[in-house]
Amino acid sequence: MIDKIEAILSEVEELKASGSDELEVLRLKYLSKKGIIPSLMETFRTIPAEQKREVGVRINELKQKAADKFNELKEQFESSDAGDLNIDLTRTAYPVALGTRHPISIVKEEINDIFKRLGFSIEEGPEVEDDWHVFSSLNFADDHPARDMQDTFFIQNDPQILLRTHTSSVQTRVMENAQPPIRIICPGRVYRNEAISYRAHCFFHQVEALYIDKDVSFADLKQALLFFAREMFGEETKIRLRPSYFPFTEPSAEMDISCNICGGGGCPFCKHTGWVEILGCGMVDPNVLENCGIDSKTYTGYALGMGIERITNLKYQVKDLRLFSENDIRFLEQFKSAY
Ligand code: DAH
Repeated sequence: MIDKIEAILSEVEELKASGSDELEVLRLKYLSKKGIIPSLMETFRTIPAEQKREVGVRINELKQKAADKFNELKEQFESSDAGDLNIDLTRTAYPVALGTRHPISIVKEEINDIFKRLGFSIEEGPEVEDDWHVFSSLNFADDHPARDMQDTFFIQNDPQILLRTHTSSVQTRVMENAQPPIRIICPGRVYRNEAISYRAHCFFHQVEALYIDKDVSFADLKQALLFFAREMFGEETKIRLRPSYFPFTEPSAEMDISCNICGGGGCPFCKHTGWVEILGCGMVDPNVLENCGIDSKTYTGYALGMGIERITNLKYQVKDLRLFSENDIRFLEQFKSAY
């Protein structure tokens, strides 16, 4: 019996396998239920009692060595399988498509960054607002058409609660709670009761800027506008201001920039005028300052507001506004940016 065990032991020690399939065949031959080593155990039961001790020790030794040998061979294959295929075990199992930021977010961040460089800080306000913050505090007359159901979404038909139609409402919220100097930009979503088409949507995004301090003048406004236009659309960009009307600013203006598509020479985009309108602005009406608890004899200020979709349109020439809210990956994937 001992001789037989010794013979099997030296066989096991010499075992070699060239792959995991071959190793499995050997494992079945030696270690499976009906394999050589378990069947030795059967024979062990039949041997005379006085031999049992010595033979038992030898069989255990064989079992242990065989188990060690198989583990050793197995490990060899595992490490060399990975090595042969040159697999990077830290890689994910599937290719991961990197997402892109939404073009509106990209442009919003860019606008924020430009104004931050001028010392503005970001403020946000609620989208569900009251009449005071959206209209009354901003000097809208009671019969102003913007208060009409045609333009504004009211909540549960209550004329006092509505979805803000512009981010100018955040001006009031900030001025009510702080004294000048105030230098803020307010990005956010706004809502209007418009029929959806390629050029209008029932929601879109705006950025509002407000600067209130002693001695703020229209010249300060113009300088900030020129800085913004050049940073956003390039050094060569020119601006022009046209007189306009907004209830909350006096005087008011609309700003055009030289068309960044044709450089001002005239093209279908700028309707051959060389200019495109990008924002509204003006000096904050003294009534608005007083409505918000700011002394209009001591302080003056300017405000401006622009549509982010409009700026995005100009930067990326997206002709249909609806693309911004359809979440079509083929559209969104085209916007790779550092922002
Ligand atoms: N709130 C205006 C709008 O929604 C935009 C605007 C115009 C904002 C002039 C201003 C401003 O702050 O001074 O059309």
